[in-house]
Parts: sequence; structure tokens; C-alpha cells
Amino acid sequence: MTPENPYFGATNKELDTKRLEIQSSGFNPYTEKFLEDLGLSKETALDLATGTGAVLTILAKYANRITALDSDKDQLAEAQKVIELFNLGSKVELRQGNALELDLPDNTFSIVHARLLLTNLPTKTHSQVVNESIRVLKPGGVLVLEELGVDRGWHAKPPSSHFETLVNAVIEARNRTEISNQTGPELEDLVTISGLKTIAKNSYSIESRAKDPFTQLNVMFMTLYTPLLVRTGALSKEESEVHLEGLKNDIKDNPDMKVWAPQMFQVAAKKLS
Ligand SMILES: C[S@@+](CC[C@H](N)C(=O)[O-])C[C@H]1O[C@@H](n2cnc3c(N)ncnc32)[C@H](O)[C@@H]1O
Repeated sequence: MTPENPYFGATNKELDTKRLEIQSSGFNPYTEKFLEDLGLSKETALDLATGTGAVLTILAKYANRITALDSDKDQLAEAQKVIELFNLGSKVELRQGNALELDLPDNTFSIVHARLLLTNLPTKTHSQVVNESIRVLKPGGVLVLEELGVDRGWHAKPPSSHFETLVNAVIEARNRTEISNQTGPELEDLVTISGLKTIAKNSYSIESRAKDPFTQLNVMFMTLYTPLLVRTGALSKEESEVHLEGLKNDIKDNPDMKVWAPQMFQVAAKKLS
């Protein structure tokens, strides 16, 4: 990653590991159902930006051999724990690498999967990631992408002005660093322009109650985003702290509060030749 656009979670890796764990508990059932409906048989898979290896147990149902790649060695150390816990050592190879320049041969994998990779990368790099994925896919292989529309439906009821301010600041900070807030909604166009044929798509938004861990995810997310909000001038350090504290109190004081995560988009697309 370039120094100007570091992955926002790298600002506090311990917190990010916890965040990814909670996030996966919400997203994994949808990933599992989407892959199941594709009717894949036993294949060779690449999990791009595997992070803490959250989808490895799911991919293991559809693949005999999995390469799990991430740019961050600390995330890969967490993925190694998953491999040991679920006895996946004979199936999964961990690899440190860059999704923009894959150090992997052409025509190798029947599935390339990435969840929440493009959402965190500058928009101008998205087609490069897709082209690299196409290069390493076998003809007839399937690219599965799962990415957010950060500005789609991310809200609370009753509304929290602190939450709204932080959500708007995240959207603004991302705009200022040229990272699309419409990555999810743009996935189908992206894969079509790259020469793939869409074979399945879906979108959903997770709803949680104030006490659910998934709601706490928003506090973790905003905490991890604070350095970027400050760096881009979307909020000052003082404003960020006030709104983060306000959000925590709103969640604590309103047990009936409901929070909707940004909409998630899933696309599966086939390499024709
Ligand atoms: C939000 S996490 C998603 C992890 C996992 N896919 C999941 O759904 O839980 C994003 C991951 O992308 C990785 N990453 C960021 N830029 C990357 C790049 N250029 N190449 C490979 N991995 C990258 C980060 O290190 C991080 O682990």
C-alpha cells in the first residue's frame, strides 16, 4: 500500500483484529449462502486480502487447495491461528503479497474471492486488482467480490447526531483520499468492463440492536478511522473525540436503538476464456 493510502485498520491492529472478528460473525452467513448458491464443486481458491482468515472455513467447503493472501503479516499471523484451530493446514497456504501485483502464475485458480478489499483501496486501483484476479483465474473460473456501498443506508433509529456526523466525516475523508463510497454498487460494471460475465449478485444490510456486538462494531470502526478523519481535515481531533464519546453514550443510553450497517454487495463473475 502507498504511504498516502494506508489501510485504515492498520492504525490499531489489535482493535482491527477484534473488529474483523465481530464483522465476520455478521457477514459470514451471507458469504456462505452466496457461495453455496453458486454450486461450485471442489476447486482451487485464492482468498485475496484474507485478513484474519475469516472466510477460510467457508472456502474450505468448496476448495481442496486455498491460497490465502494479505499484505499484512500481523493479519496473516491471525489467519494462521484459524488454520490451526480448524485443522486446515493441509489445504491452506498463507502468503504475504499485494493484490495489485500478484506473485502467482496465470490460469491457476478456479475461484478468486475478495471481501472488503476494494472498499479500502483507492478507486483508480480497482480495475488493476480485477485484472490481476482474471490473470490468475483459470478459464471458466469465478471471481467473487463482496464490497460495501459506504454511503448506502448506514444509519441509526432513533437517529444519533454523533453517529450521523461520524458517518458523514468517514464518507468525506474517503472522498478526499479518492476511495470510492460506491465500491459495492459499482462492482457489476467493474467486472463487466473487465470482460467477465456476471453469473450471480446479491445485496443486503445488517440490522442490529444497541446491545448487539455488531453495533459496537461502529464504535471500533470510527475509532480506527479517527486518524484519517483528522489527517484529511474531515473532523478535528477534538471533534472526533466528542462525537465518538457521544456515539458511545447514545448506544449505552438507548437500548432500543437500532443500527443499520452500510449495504453490502456480492457479485460472482465468470472468466469466459
Ligand atoms: C477489511 S480487511 C478484510 C479481511 C477479510 N477479507 C474479511 O472479510 O474479514 C482488509 C484486508 O485487506 C488487506 N489489504 C489491504 N491492502 C491490500 C493489498 N494491496 N493487497 C493485499 N491485501 C491488502 C489488509 O491488510 C486487511 O487485512
